[in-house]
Amino acid sequence: MMLYKLLRSLLFRLPPETAHALTLSVLEHLASVPLFDTLMSAHSRLPVKVMGLQFPNPVGLAAGLDKDGTCIEGMAALGFGFLELGTVTPRPQPGNPAPRLFRLPEHHALINRMGFNNLGVDQLIGRLERRRYNGILGINIGKNKDTPLERAHEDYEEAFRKVYPHASYVVVNVSSPNTQGLRSLQSIDALKKLLSTLLDVRVNLAREYGSTVPLVVKLAPDLHDADLEDTARLLLELEVDGITATNTTLSRPGVEHHPLAQEQGGLSGRPLRDQSLHVLKTLHAYVAPRIALIGVGGIESGADACARVRAGASLVQIYSGLIYQGPGLVKEIVRHLAADSTLATLV
Ligand SMILES: Cc1cc2nc3c(=O)[nH]c(=O)nc-3n(C[C@H](O)[C@H](O)[C@H](O)COP(=O)(O)O)c2cc1C
Repeated sequence: MMLYKLLRSLLFRLPPETAHALTLSVLEHLASVPLFDTLMSAHSRLPVKVMGLQFPNPVGLAAGLDKDGTCIEGMAALGFGFLELGTVTPRPQPGNPAPRLFRLPEHHALINRMGFNNLGVDQLIGRLERRRYNGILGINIGKNKDTPLERAHEDYEEAFRKVYPHASYVVVNVSSPNTQGLRSLQSIDALKKLLSTLLDVRVNLAREYGSTVPLVVKLAPDLHDADLEDTARLLLELEVDGITATNTTLSRPGVEHHPLAQEQGGLSGRPLRDQSLHVLKTLHAYVAPRIALIGVGGIESGADACARVRAGASLVQIYSGLIYQGPGLVKEIVRHLAADSTLATLV
């Protein structure tokens, strides 16, 4: 952690996206150095079975950090139990104009309005076909910016069909705040239509590929309790396999007066923690044990992760915590989860 503090002070002198690209590129190169991953990922085992999949440990990389799968081996070397790539869209797109990613270091937070910048699903698949990593891989899918909302399901279906044979599980992202109208797909009617389409398609894909890939829905932390109840009911009825709670928030809890608070986009990191935990708890009350829950949002310590598991998460993911605490956080969380005897029956 000390070493990472030094590295972080250097990285934080660079614009956020430059630091991000540099880190991914260096890490991916390091991963090809013999013994690097053996050294890095030692002691990261805490096997769990969720959605029928066997995870070496329950700590995952959240979506958006390695959207295009350019750092799969590097991320795997950090000891993650699973990686989630994407959000990927059917066609490549540049995302919003920069600057679009902001650090709020005093709050261990980020605000981003990336807007699904990605190289498109075909590029991602090319990379997946060349990968060495054979661990659990989630693929998070979305719609292109220029696809009208009425036709959003066509984008999701196209991406779903293409990623299906490469994914351990697929996440339907209807909660990014940075693609106009996307979050309206969380309304009950729209969500029902979208997920029914994908679940129908899955029946045929399962026959074709000989396995049923779990379908997960990623929700926003800004849904009200009543919305969550309706959503939970729908997801139970449709029998989706998992829910990721949560994406970033449009609210600005505790950072209202920060000079960057007015920047448009989703807030992540420490200020999001309580809101994400609340959504997770609320969902758990409705869907346990039939739908698996993946807890994400503001997890930056072993204790945060334990609280998430206690609230009903079977898996956790990190993004902002990795930026502020460094790669040692993965192992710290696994160690805490393994040591917490009250979790023995959960994890
Ligand atoms: C720069 C950035 C880009 C992100 N991109 C995506 C994305 O493409 N798809 C997605 O589902 N979530 C995306 N997220 C949300 C994260 O996966 C996660 O849900 C959120 O940041 C909360 O976790 P955290 O507090 O640990 O960062 C992004 C987050 C950040 C900070």
